[in-house]
Amino acid sequence: MVVAIDGPAGAGKSTVARALAERLGFRYLDTGAMYRALTWLAMKRGLDLGDAGALADLAREQPVLFSEDGRVWIGGTDITSSIRETRVDRMVPVVARHHPVREVMRERQRELGRDGDVVIEGRDIGTVVAPDAAVKVFLVADREERAKRRIAERPGIGADALATDLRLRDESDAARMQPAPDATEIDTTNLEVEDVVDRIEALVRERSAA
Ligand code: DC
Repeated sequence: MVVAIDGPAGAGKSTVARALAERLGFRYLDTGAMYRALTWLAMKRGLDLGDAGALADLAREQPVLFSEDGRVWIGGTDITSSIRETRVDRMVPVVARHHPVREVMRERQRELGRDGDVVIEGRDIGTVVAPDAAVKVFLVADREERAKRRIAERPGIGADALATDLRLRDESDAARMQPAPDATEIDTTNLEVEDVVDRIEALVRERSAA
């Protein structure tokens, strides 16, 4: 079974998707980490981030790997923490908007999600990567709450940088942020992680019983 969890930055996707996967004993696939990894490698190699063809070639040649312990690798380097740096946050939307890059990534995501039970987190999972997912959830949260969560994740970030960051990411991700028509929307603004996980688990149990 595939559980697709989509939504904007700061809506709580990663925390919820990880906790849900753990609770259900499903695998967890973080597709944002794949775009981040490619961006990190492209920057390291000094590639032109406007060159869609070169980036798609790089994505094909250097697949992102996830180890059993949840660490992220590309080109033989463990980049689990480097991909969360602010410089990567800033550039990843530039890389992720190229269609040839998305084609390579989506194909790989489908392969990684093919066998067994998996929770897949991203922006376009319920719409494009796994339109047949058994359960589709679209998480949202108020902008103020999303900003608070962002500060908790990136304590060093200043107020201006934070506001620009969320606005720019929302704008550049907007085209891919449409919920699937059959997705269940959950507003996480006033909910605890456990409550959100409970709700999604209930949807999974309903689907399994059907
Ligand atoms: O969820 P995140 O912040 O780690 O995502 C990083 C970037 O990748 C963000 O700009 C959105 C983009 N992304 C995407 O375009 N499609 C996905 N399936 C996942 C992430």
